[in-house]
Formats: sequence, structure tokens, C-alpha cells
Amino acid sequence: MQNADHQAYLAALQWHIDQGIDEILELEPVTNRLEVVKVPAHVPEAELKTRERPILQSPSQTPAQANVATGLQKLKDQARELAAKADTLEDLAKAIQGFDGLDIKKTATNFVFSDGYPNAKVMLVGEAPGADEDRLGKPFVGVSGQLLDKILACIGLDRTSEDPKTGIYISNILNWRPPGNRTPTPQEMEIALPFIEKHIALADPEFLILSGGVAAKTVLHSGESISKLRGTAHTFAPKTLEISKKIPVVATYHPSYLLRTPSQKAKVWQDMLFLQSLRLSL
Ligand code: URA
Repeated sequence: MQNADHQAYLAALQWHIDQGIDEILELEPVTNRLEVVKVPAHVPEAELKTRERPILQSPSQTPAQANVATGLQKLKDQARELAAKADTLEDLAKAIQGFDGLDIKKTATNFVFSDGYPNAKVMLVGEAPGADEDRLGKPFVGVSGQLLDKILACIGLDRTSEDPKTGIYISNILNWRPPGNRTPTPQEMEIALPFIEKHIALADPEFLILSGGVAAKTVLHSGESISKLRGTAHTFAPKTLEISKKIPVVATYHPSYLLRTPSQKAKVWQDMLFLQSLRLSL
């Protein structure tokens, strides 16, 4: 290879890495992702009835879109079934680990399920593991996790404590790191929803903190921004299972956002004081 070509290839590789594209997802490049693929075999009527809603909803849906919707629904159904069968946190961890419906599993190094004290009264849910979490197999252990620990310490919470009042149980919506720390796709969040809802139900906290917009929108089934969702108490209302307990939920900014925008730290402090007032009122 000519030296100039070599330099150009290296520059192109570096450009991809700088854009966060640091994993190879497929061995062969896909030349046309919009290419129309064949319609799947007809979905039996009985199967359609057992699903949340019909898949071939819109007459304007192309066959490729219908294919994607069918596949997504199947994965959601599969995740829901697996989550329903889990009676303990250990069962759930095993079920998620064995689930092949999320491609991020193929590129991640470690499965990241939880940290902290499972019997704690407070549970916190974030978005997805980053590079440090992927390396160590625990949520919130990188720089943003260190800031999170400081924030929690301000209201007397400590993930290493095994006292239900001062301990905290921590997890994420996704248990695998999205390659290059990209934002999880809406499809990934939909597929993972039964898992995180069951995770919360099994941990059975008295209070739930949702850290960041992705976690807040997913768990609260909302299209609102985190700045609208924070500041009021919500109630955990799972879509994929039934619970009778009313778990109060506080949504707040993600620590990695605070690292980029320290001026918003005061708002997270207000959110923590708000959570504290709810805790004291029980
Ligand atoms: N960000 C998250 O949302 N979760 C982690 O575990 C780490 C960073």
C-alpha cells in the first residue's frame, strides 16, 4: 500500500473512532439498508390476537417496515415472557443474560445488572452502561458514577451500605453497553422495558429515582423532556406487569449531563431535597 493511502486509511479509521464508532457490528457492509425485503410468512390470526396491538397497522407501511415491526414485536413478547417467569433478582439476571434479542449484547464485554443493596428503600435507574461499567460489570462506576455517589451521599445514601434506610440499589434500563456509548434506540428501550419493570417490581423499593431523560421517558412512558419530568412526584405504573404498590418516582438530570453542564447541579440538589421530603413524609 502506498504511504499516502495508508495515511488516508488511518485518518478514516481515526475519524470513525472520534465519532464513537469503535465496534464492528457486521462483517460485511450493508450497501442498501433501505432495500425492500420480502414480506414474512402470514402472521396467523390467533397469534395476532395475543399481541398488544396489530402489527400491520398502516396501509402505507412498506413490506420492509412490516418485517421490522413483526421482528420487534416478537422480541418484546419474548422479553415479556422471560421477565414474567423470573421470581427473584437472580432469575431475572439469568433470563436477561440469556436473551439474544438485543444486539448490544454481541458488542459488550460484560453484562451489567446492578450494584448496591437490593433491600434498600431507594432504587436508582440510569440509562445504560458506559465503557467503565462495561469493563467492570457494574453500573455507575465511571466518572459520572463518582459524581452520582457524591450526590447520593448528600442525602445520606451509600451504595455500600447494607442498611435499608441508608443503602441504595442501582441499575440501568439496558444491561449491555451500546457500542461507542451511543444513545439507546427507542426499539432497544421497548424491548428492555419488561426487564426493567420486573427488576423494579422484584427489588420492590419505597422510592425510585430515574437518572436522566432516557430512563425517565422509558419508565414513565412519557414523551416529555427531563426538564418537564423533574420537579414533581410520579408513580411507577408499569406497562408490562401489574403491581398494587404505589412507588413514588423522582426524575432528575443524569450525572454525565451535570459534568457537561455544572450550572444545573442546583436543580439536582433540589430534586434530592424533594426526594428527602417524600422519604421523611412516610
Ligand atoms: N450512565 C448510566 O446511565 N449508567 C451507567 O451505569 C453509567 C453511566
